[in-house]
Order: sequence, then C-alpha cells, then structure tokens
Amino acid sequence: MSSTISHLPGSGSHDDAELTGIAAAVEQRLRAADRLIMDLDEELSLLAGLQEFPLGRFLLRNRGLNGYWTSYIFRYEPGTPTESDTEFWLLNRSLLSGARERYQRFRTEISRSITDGAVLASLPCGVMDDLVRQDYGDAPGARLVGIDIDEESLRLAKENAASRGWGDRTDVVLSDAWELGIDSEFDLLVSNGLNMYEPDPGRLVALYRNFARALRPGGRLLLSFLTPPPPPPWEAPERAGEWQRYGIAEHDLRRELALFGDIIQAKYLNFVSEADTRAQLAEAGLEVESVGYSDGGVLPIVSAVRPR
Ligand SMILES: C[S@@+](CC[C@H](N)C(=O)[O-])C[C@H]1O[C@@H](n2cnc3c(N)ncnc32)[C@H](O)[C@@H]1O
Repeated sequence: MSSTISHLPGSGSHDDAELTGIAAAVEQRLRAADRLIMDLDEELSLLAGLQEFPLGRFLLRNRGLNGYWTSYIFRYEPGTPTESDTEFWLLNRSLLSGARERYQRFRTEISRSITDGAVLASLPCGVMDDLVRQDYGDAPGARLVGIDIDEESLRLAKENAASRGWGDRTDVVLSDAWELGIDSEFDLLVSNGLNMYEPDPGRLVALYRNFARALRPGGRLLLSFLTPPPPPPWEAPERAGEWQRYGIAEHDLRRELALFGDIIQAKYLNFVSEADTRAQLAEAGLEVESVGYSDGGVLPIVSAVRPR
C-alpha cells in the first residue's frame, strides 16, 4: 500500500504515552477480573505481545479496525514471516484472519455485478480493495463510488483506485452512513464491516433503509453480518462439534476470546442471526435473494435487491 505505517496515528511520543496508559488500564482490569478465559499470566503476556506491532497497538487503542488495517489483514499472504509471534498468530490462526476467505467471496460476488456503465459503491469503503481489486476489462464505462466517515481511508481509497488506473472513474464521498441522503444512484452497494459495530437493531434498520434508498430500483446490496457463535467448548462440551465449522483449534479459540474479549474488548462483536438480518432488510424495503456461507457454514454474505 502507498501509505506507510509511520503516517498512521500511534507513532509519536504522545501516542506512546497514551498507549502505555491504555495498556496499564487493561492490565488493572485483567488483574481485578473475577474470571478470565486464560490464566492471568498468559493474558498479561498476550497484552505485552500486542504492543509489539503496529496492528496490535491499533487494536488496543481503537478496539476495532479501520480501512487501512482491514486491508493489511486481507492482503497478507498467509505464512509470510512477521517480526512478532503474536502478529503471526493474529494473521494466520485467529478467527479474524478467517475473514480473509469472506473477502474473496465478496470479490467473486461483486464480479458478477460488473457491467459496462454500472455504478458500483462501497460503504464503508475503507481503502476500497473490494471494488478496486477487480477486472473491469469488459466494463470500461463502469463508475466506482467509495463512501466512508474517515478522510484518511478515502485518501487511501482514491490512491488505491489511481494505482489501478481507475482514479478518473472513482469518486469518494465523506459521509456518515446514517446520514447518507443518496437516492437511486447505485447498481451495486457493498457493505462489509460496519453493521457489526452497531448493537441497536433499530439503527441497523435505519442503516439498511439508507442502503435501499441509495440503490436504483433493481439494484443489489451485498452485506456481511456476524452470526452468534456457539458457547466455548469448555463451557458447553455437548456443543463443541459446532466449532468445527470455524476451523479453529481449542487452544487458538481460547487465545482469540482472551485477546478480543478480555483484553481488547472489541466493539465489532455484535452478532445477529440470519432470521433477524432477513427481517431487518425486509423492514428496510429490500428483498433477500440469497445468503451465502463459507464451506464450513459461517461468515454469511447476503444479497438483497431493491424491488423495481
Ligand atoms: C473494518 S473497516 C471495513 C472497510 C472495508 N469495507 C473493508 O472491508 O475493507 C470499517 C470502516 O468503517 C468506517 N466507518 C465507521 N463508522 C462509519 C460510519 N458511521 N459511516 C461510514 N463509515 C464508517 C471506518 O472509517 C472504516 O473505514
């Protein structure tokens, strides 16, 4: 990517002091906790490991991902050595790294909607890999629109499009998804990584209404969501088999839950069932065409259309 890590927040001495403060507060919380997923010493060592690499520091600070780091995870070539063991684990063995598979399915789904003259949008676009890393050879008249609340992401999205020769056919729009106000413009709207930060079902319906309104009649929404995982196998051994679908070993799952639950307290773990997502999309005026899962049956992507 054209942006280097030193351009990102979190590299100055003020930021170092801030991070030390955050880590100290997390340590205090872990020490005071009645119950932890792993032993306290193991969790403290994970906390220390997280501070050794930029992505870990970003996660500790923000308790979620921005466009740049999402792209960093998706573009990472599995198995490539990293300086930090914790980062290697995160990029190769965590459930978060499993979302790379969904990103590839998104790309396949998007490629089906690429027609000459189509207007394809991504919200939140982040650096816009989903639309930019596509083959537009048969659709030279297509137009891309990236929408995000973060100016830095939009700058990277624009650079990303330009690096593929699509700068002139790409617009970026700075907007909060809940304040969108775009009417009947898009043939395809892709949304990955926003709804999972939102716990309120009413706000999800409001978001999906904005998506529906932004589509042309007959236009298609591609949307991911996170379904509720089974309880951990050490709490419900009778349901341990359900974890096979996630393809994660029990010791990695412990690490995952310790890292993203106990330590980071990630903000994006708002789970919704397929039935509830279908109902929310219907309430927003969209018709669900299909819901596609990974081979293991996880990480769904919904395809829904705005009726003509
Ligand atoms: C996890 S990233 C996903 C980016 C991209 N869709 C991808 O899959 O690579 C989440 C993005 O949501 C953006 N975002 C967060 N809140 C938003 C809001 N209210 N409206 C629009 N974008 C938002 C962030 O700036 C960030 O770029």
